[in-house]
Amino acid sequence: MQDKEISLAVIQRLPRYYRYLGELLENDVVRISSKELSERMKVTASQIRQDLNNFGGFGQQGYGYNVEYLYTEIGKILGLDKCYNVIIIGAGNLGQALANYTDFERRGFIIKGIFDVNPRLEGISIRGTEIHMIDELEEFVKNNTIHIAALTIPKLKAPAIAKELAKLGIKAIWNFAPIDLNLPKDVMVENVHLAESLMRLSYNLKALEESNTEE
Ligand code: NAI
Repeated sequence: MQDKEISLAVIQRLPRYYRYLGELLENDVVRISSKELSERMKVTASQIRQDLNNFGGFGQQGYGYNVEYLYTEIGKILGLDKCYNVIIIGAGNLGQALANYTDFERRGFIIKGIFDVNPRLEGISIRGTEIHMIDELEEFVKNNTIHIAALTIPKLKAPAIAKELAKLGIKAIWNFAPIDLNLPKDVMVENVHLAESLMRLSYNLKALEESNTEE
């Protein structure tokens, strides 16, 4: 349905639209104007119109947006109408937290397996998903269609495992290890670094404190 390239900035805003529209749907809201949506989301109505016009203008003059339609269409654009199989490498604090989070499944991300090197974790299940030893990875990936691998292992271990995952044909890495991964171009890496997000908060807090002392 898209005949033009959508900018990365718009794509990055879509999950937030999706979340708001999901909440509206849960509250049985059938339609919403760009003005109302803008007040809720604290972005300008013109930004909303511009963003959503990228997808062929789901809105109608004087009617607003059909919430369910827009939610479904944005879901399709984000690929959420499909299911993706995920493995988690590293069953420590973070890996187990991801595996315990049920909302990913609701969005179509199915955790198929968890891998670790620690023999004490072997065979333990987290919400029904078994922890395997890392030497079973190759066979597991060959026997199951895996779309995404989450990396929740120590940073120095991450590059080698990422390389192996790429060799096994995995095309999407959700990287939580605080290290840049150099992988073939056809492998996409999405880095998630909570510490960087905290640093942005700290920068803004510092700026606020400085402006308060200047007053
Ligand atoms: P953790 O020490 O609790 O867990 C790491 C797990 O990885 C352990 O179970 C260990 O046995 C396993 N492991 C080590 N080498 C492995 C290998 N080659 N293959 C498979 N498993 C292996 O650590 P935690 O707190 O869960 O953190 C994991 C990673 O995530 C670290 O790199 C940490 O810096 C990072 N992290 C990133 C965050 C983010 O915002 N991106 C937030 C918190 C942690």
